Amino acid sequence: MPKRPEPDRLVGESPAFRLALDAVSKVAPLNKPVLVVGERGTGKELVAARLHYLSSRWEGPFLKLNCAAISDTLIESELFGHEAGSFTGASRTHQGRFERAEGGTLFLDELANTSGLVQEKLLRVIEYGEFERVGGRRTQRADVRVVAATNEDLPALAAKGGFRLDLLDRLAFDVVTLPPLRERPEDIPLLAEYFATNMAKELGREYFPGFAADAAQALQTHHWPGNLRELKNVVERAVYRAEPGEAVEEITLDPFRSPFRPAAEQAPGARPGLALPLDLKAAVQKLEIDVINKALAAAKYNQRRAAAQLGLTYHSLRGYLKKYEAEVRGGD
Ligand SMILES: Nc1ncnc2c1ncn2[C@@H]1O[C@H](COP(=O)(O)OP(=O)(O)OP(=O)(O)O)[C@@H](O)[C@H]1O
Ligand SMILES: [Mg+2]
Repeated sequence: MPKRPEPDRLVGESPAFRLALDAVSKVAPLNKPVLVVGERGTGKELVAARLHYLSSRWEGPFLKLNCAAISDTLIESELFGHEAGSFTGASRTHQGRFERAEGGTLFLDELANTSGLVQEKLLRVIEYGEFERVGGRRTQRADVRVVAATNEDLPALAAKGGFRLDLLDRLAFDVVTLPPLRERPEDIPLLAEYFATNMAKELGREYFPGFAADAAQALQTHHWPGNLRELKNVVERAVYRAEPGEAVEEITLDPFRSPFRPAAEQAPGARPGLALPLDLKAAVQKLEIDVINKALAAAKYNQRRAAAQLGLTYHSLRGYLKKYEAEVRGGD
């Protein structure tokens, strides 16, 4: 008999995360749809995989479709398949995810982005296990468990008419909500260590020497709008930039931060990276740094002239320069 594989490790011991994990273990064995909700980067995909591997379907397929990545017509044929000749370019019969996931689990990522027609077909296949291929007449049967994920507020979307309420009711047999990283600060050191150790291994280093106190502090105090994915990237970058065998001292939260960043990206109104949720303090600091750098460059690094351009006294500009020592090119 094949051995049940260990699901990917889910690191975290905070009460908020434990609560979510308990909900996962409890609902996993049931043959019911599950909705996984959480901000971007909170681990929704890992949780979906865990739901599959802890269920009685673990030997069956675990397939996924990201509904935000493709157009509505394509979603329909990717999910339900199509018959040859059903539309231009459909030269052969195509099996959809529901056919290929038979006996297993289908993970529908970013489900909020589906059209009414797709939602209607989904409701039917979830409720009655029935669907037709695009362009097909024969009704097919599907035995597939659906796990869906979203980072949107589906009840609010449904109330506005942007999502079918009956599908939402059906999917929400149980809802697992993953906490954002800022609500589980106790987990930051555990996760940082975990990501760092994996990265050190990947780089062929014998061990991970740890974070220096300042670096650990920087990780602990950041707001993490991008959650675990952001933490993972920041930690991996820090490990790879550190000398092998030496503790990680330097944490770069924003790899784009540079006095030479192209000005076009900083045009007001078209500022990238202002999507919510964001870290207001960090965003304001970044704006201050960008504007000061710009004024300094325009004044050819004459600080008195730059201060005049910014409506600041020379002394208050000096105060800013001191505060942002690492990020601004001071000039004379
Ligand atoms: N508890 C955890 N322990 C270890 N790694 C984790 C954990 N949760 C998430 N990760 C890692 O963090 C990254 C983001 O996780 P995942 O892709 O599951 O998030 P997501 O919620 O699906 O994000 P998105 O909304 O952007 O699709 C992945 O690399 C994943 O392996
Ligand atoms: Mg995801």
